[in-house]
Amino acid sequence: MLAWYDKHARDLPWRAPPGAPRADPYRVWLSEIMLQQTTVATVRPKFEHFTTRWPDFASLAAADEAELMSAWAGLGYYARARNLVACARVVVERHGGAFPGNEDELRALPGIGAYTAAAIASIAFGERAVVVDGNVERVVSRLFAIGEPLPGARAAIRAATDTITPDSRSGDFAQAMMDLGSSICTPRNPKCLVCPLNDQCLALSQGEPDAYPVKPAKATKPQRYGTIFWGERDGKVLLERRPPRGLLGGMRALPTGPWADAPPGLADPPVAADWQVLDDRVVHVFTHFRLELALAVAIVREHSNAGEWWPVAEIESAGLPTVFAKAAAVVRGEIRRAT
Ligand code: ADE
Ligand code: SF4
Repeated sequence: MLAWYDKHARDLPWRAPPGAPRADPYRVWLSEIMLQQTTVATVRPKFEHFTTRWPDFASLAAADEAELMSAWAGLGYYARARNLVACARVVVERHGGAFPGNEDELRALPGIGAYTAAAIASIAFGERAVVVDGNVERVVSRLFAIGEPLPGARAAIRAATDTITPDSRSGDFAQAMMDLGSSICTPRNPKCLVCPLNDQCLALSQGEPDAYPVKPAKATKPQRYGTIFWGERDGKVLLERRPPRGLLGGMRALPTGPWADAPPGLADPPVAADWQVLDDRVVHVFTHFRLELALAVAIVREHSNAGEWWPVAEIESAGLPTVFAKAAAVVRGEIRRAT
């Protein structure tokens, strides 16, 4: 795997070249947090922006939270962004502005779990650590043909990964497995012909690599409903900032009424107006539920002190979370068709 990595490592902005002893721990940490639940393609430009604006722990510890949340927009799972600042502050206040270099102490920091601690310790500090993310999970469950379904299989996958993790360059090894998982050992139709592990892979020798990892029976997500209110006045749309805690907390957003088990209709509009419900709906899938949002539009005539009037033509720069960005695109498409 290391020989393969030396030739095929992806060139990513948070990485040191293969074999180089160290990547910047701050950049490794930031990238690992961003890459949880988010693809490399989405993370790359956000990472560049973030590290230009906040290049180190000291600047991040002093970051303006509203600006940070806007910069995070589109990455999802916004609790991660709030934890970032909390972690940077602890690093500045208790660790003299630099990460501790071992897994256990890293693990004790806000927002750093087992995976992230192992990734930072190995990639940024050259410690041997066993790193298992979704890509590694897939490669290893195939390599060893681990037949137990997820999530129960995680202990076996971790133990198997431990047996193949080298004592030196374990960070390069982990990233090699990630790269293999994203380019060759893909979820469907893995390219086993060009895989450096194809002479050792049990799943391939059994003839059915895609059968691993074995998926758990799917639980269906609860369905919730809400209404987004698009109120326009003089080419501007009414936005609000969501309460600091809870889902999408602290993010700039389009106003919504309550999220409920049945469509709430026009309950709780942000201002009085002649609200009209569009035929289109916006569907967004969160971790724990599926949300279907109706869209209510109106020209607002009353003055409203609530919220913030944002130019419709510049809505892309408002830092809206994806669900509201989708809604804005739908409403603007509708209005364009109607006029
Ligand atoms: N996904 C999570 N961490 C990664 C890394 N260091 N390189 C590539 N993909 C990743
Ligand atoms: Fe994955 Fe195929 Fe390589 Fe096995 S041989 S690790 S299934 S790509």
